[in-house]
Amino acid sequence: MSDIRTVGVVGCGLMGSGIAQVVAMTGHRTRVLETSQTVLERGFARIRKFLDDGVAREKVTPDLRDATLANLLPAAAAADLGDCDIVIEAIIENLDEKRKLYAALEDVIGADTILCSNTSSLCITELAAATKRPDRFAGLHFFNPVPLMKLVEVIRALTTSDRTYEAVFAFGQALGKQAVTAPDRPGFIVNRLLVPFLLDAIRAYENGLGTLEDIDTAMKLGLGHPMGPFTLLDFVGLDTTYYIANIMFDEYREPAYAPPPLLKRMVLAGRLGRKSGRGFYDYGKG
Ligand code: CAA
Repeated sequence: MSDIRTVGVVGCGLMGSGIAQVVAMTGHRTRVLETSQTVLERGFARIRKFLDDGVAREKVTPDLRDATLANLLPAAAAADLGDCDIVIEAIIENLDEKRKLYAALEDVIGADTILCSNTSSLCITELAAATKRPDRFAGLHFFNPVPLMKLVEVIRALTTSDRTYEAVFAFGQALGKQAVTAPDRPGFIVNRLLVPFLLDAIRAYENGLGTLEDIDTAMKLGLGHPMGPFTLLDFVGLDTTYYIANIMFDEYREPAYAPPPLLKRMVLAGRLGRKSGRGFYDYGKG
């Protein structure tokens, strides 16, 4: 994708900052729009720390760290994204907020600019329909931690043109990721298989299959997974899993996607996983 030089990333939370880092590391001028100054500063600090740690581990050269940081340009408003060839939206999973953002972006971006969403749960066709460029819209779904996870899912809306799909797929590859094409169905490929697995682990635990630790150890060492299901639930966030499960259950109406009572109650109690200091495990803060 030699013609994609300048990239906009909107949202600088955990996913947005990871995406911005990977975009900047692969040599693109990266404009990062984030309405909260605190979130922006935290996101940039996260990127700097990752790069510094990478240099200390000899996984990142000091030159690449410096070039990456130089490629990262904070943007104060949508108007600053006017010269972007592609914009990746990674804001809150709320259709109205995304709609508002797309409207503001479409006032300033070029006619050929492609819009992508990193949504993990909303319908790509519905998001595309909320823009004036449904043919130049696609899903581009990354995995946490973005700089380390090698996959990106490319999702076509019903309206995505062949040209847009091909450009987005090639762009995903240009970011150093293995790109796969996933359908515009809740969960795409990864969450479609992961979420029922995680929900089933909770149900099995409630039914006395084993301790959290034993189930995690069994699945980690028995299958070569990097994390057992409860460690992964805490990592992804129980609220995020609950939210995605509800969307999948709404669409498919199959019991495999129904969130178990324990998950709902843990979310209601604020036990959201690592981010709140406590989930299935205690991280000493919650
Ligand atoms: N810079 C460069 N490289 C770094 C680095 C840095 N700052 N930090 C770590 N690395 C490298 C390490 O050197 C190591 O590389 P090698 O394998 O070549 O040795 C590798 O990254 C792993 O690093 P660590 O040893 O520090 O960490 P780990 O082995 O404990 O792995 C993990 C951490 C990658 C998070 C791993 O536990 C994992 O893959 N977990 C599962 C994560 C997962 O499933 N994510 C998807 C969640 S679902 C989702 O995101 C989608 C959704 O919609 C909800």
